[in-house]
Amino acid sequence: MSVKEILEKRRSVRHYDPNYKINSEILASLIKSASKSPNGNNIQATRYLVIDDPHLRDSLLPVAFNQQQVKEASVLIVILGDYQAFEKENIIKIHEEGFQKGFFDESLRDYLASAAIHYYENKSKEDLAIELTRDASLASMSLLLLANEAGFDTITMSGYDSKHLRSVLDISERYLDIMLIAIGKGIKNGHKTVRHDINKVIYKNKID
Ligand SMILES: Cc1cc2nc3c(=O)[nH]c(=O)nc-3n(C[C@H](O)[C@H](O)[C@H](O)COP(=O)(O)O)c2cc1C
Repeated sequence: MSVKEILEKRRSVRHYDPNYKINSEILASLIKSASKSPNGNNIQATRYLVIDDPHLRDSLLPVAFNQQQVKEASVLIVILGDYQAFEKENIIKIHEEGFQKGFFDESLRDYLASAAIHYYENKSKEDLAIELTRDASLASMSLLLLANEAGFDTITMSGYDSKHLRSVLDISERYLDIMLIAIGKGIKNGHKTVRHDINKVIYKNKID
């Protein structure tokens, strides 16, 4: 299936076969490919917290306002952004790795690393949260496309209580919780949804 075909066919699926299991190597390979998504300065801040403990899945049900997919989908992933990725040491390490692999020379290594360090150094926590959300959103969409291509159904969810989720999963301040993604075998098609006419969403040169 082409990307266009997947996009035309994909729907958010809310009812899953609770007995279907996706094997962890397949999941890891989907996440590996999703992690090739573009991300700001290649600081690679997106984390995938896979929840496979049935007790935790039960505890997350009320956190996500009883959305059954939290419990019934084969895989539940909490998409997180790692604030530590903005630290100078991480930025230098990643660019050094690219240099060591021969992907660029010393001068490009130093230029990229210093440009990234300057880009983040004076940003507020709110601005950094936006950076984490941008990167994680692109990776999340890639993961959805890959999972659909592999024959699974998916849904993204922001319908959960962030404080409650963080406390149940003991997520520290180091991470921003961005969304939940459920992946599995659907047992009921997602309902069809409309989209705006294309002329309503494309503007040229100026938006009013
Ligand atoms: C960031 C985000 C959060 C969402 N949260 C929920 C959610 O908590 N529960 C839910 O049933 N659907 C959720 N959705 C799914 C949307 O309702 C759905 O994508 C939209 O209605 C379009 O339908 P489609 O995905 O089937 O094309 C979410 C989608 C996105 C992108």
